[in-house]
Amino acid sequence: MGLIVAANWKMFKNNKETVEYFDGLKKFEDEFSEVKIVVCPPFTALFKAGEALEGSAYELGAQNLFWENEGAFTGEISPAMLKDNGAKYVLIGHSERRWVMGETDEDINKKMKNAFDNNLIPIFCVGEKIEERKSGDTDKVILDQLRKGLKDIDPKLDEKMIIAYEPVWAIGTGMAATAEDAVAVIDGCILKEMNSRSSTGKSPVPVLYGGSVKEDNIGDFVSRECISGALVGGASLKADSFAALIRAAKKSYA
Ligand code: PGA
Repeated sequence: MGLIVAANWKMFKNNKETVEYFDGLKKFEDEFSEVKIVVCPPFTALFKAGEALEGSAYELGAQNLFWENEGAFTGEISPAMLKDNGAKYVLIGHSERRWVMGETDEDINKKMKNAFDNNLIPIFCVGEKIEERKSGDTDKVILDQLRKGLKDIDPKLDEKMIIAYEPVWAIGTGMAATAEDAVAVIDGCILKEMNSRSSTGKSPVPVLYGGSVKEDNIGDFVSRECISGALVGGASLKADSFAALIRAAKKSYA
C-alpha cells in the first residue's frame, strides 16, 4: 500500500486563497509522485480547486455529502454535485460532524452507502472521546462506529474506501496520540475488525491516523506498518509547510 496524505481544510479558504495554495503545492508534484495526496477544500472552493488540479496527480475530496441524490433538501449537497466539481473522495463521519453537528451512526451509514453508490471513495473517520479513552472503552467505541457505519455494506467494497482513525481529543488540540496509541487502535481493533470482514482474512483498506499531525511527528506514525498515512487539518493549510510535512512522511514511510 502506498503512502496517503489527506488534507482537511475544514471551514477555511476562499477562491483566491485556493488558487494560490495549489499554485504553491503544484511545484512539488514531481517530488511527491509516489504519494497519494488528497485535498478536501470546503464546497465553495471545489470548483476552483478542480480547475487548478486539471492534469495534476493531486486529487480532490469533499468534506461531506448527503444520502439522497437530488430533491428538496435545503443546504445539502449530492455526490453528483461533488463529482461535477472534480471530487473523487469524501470525508464521512468526521468528529466535528458527529459532535458539533450531531450526525449519528445511522446518518453516517446512509452517507457511506450513497458515496459507494456514486463511486466516491469515502474517507470514513472514527475516533473516541477522552472520557471514553479514560474509562477503557476505546475499542468498544471504535468497533461500534465501524459496525454501525458499515452496516449492510458489502465487504467487497472495502477496497474502495479509506479509514481514518482520529481520536477526538487529539484533533486541533496540539496533543497528538503517540504512535503506540495509534497502533494499538489501528492494528489491535480497526484492522482486526476489517480483516474479519474480508473473504481473504486480510483487509485491503488503508488506515490513516489523524489528530494534530505535524511535520515533526508524522514520521512516527507512517513508519508503522499498519498506518498508511495521515489526515491533516491545521498543518495542511499552508502549501509550503504541508509540502514539508509530506516530505517528512515520505522519508519515514514503512
Ligand atoms: P488537526 O485536524 O490536524 O487540525 O488536528 C485533523 C482533522 O480534523 O482531520
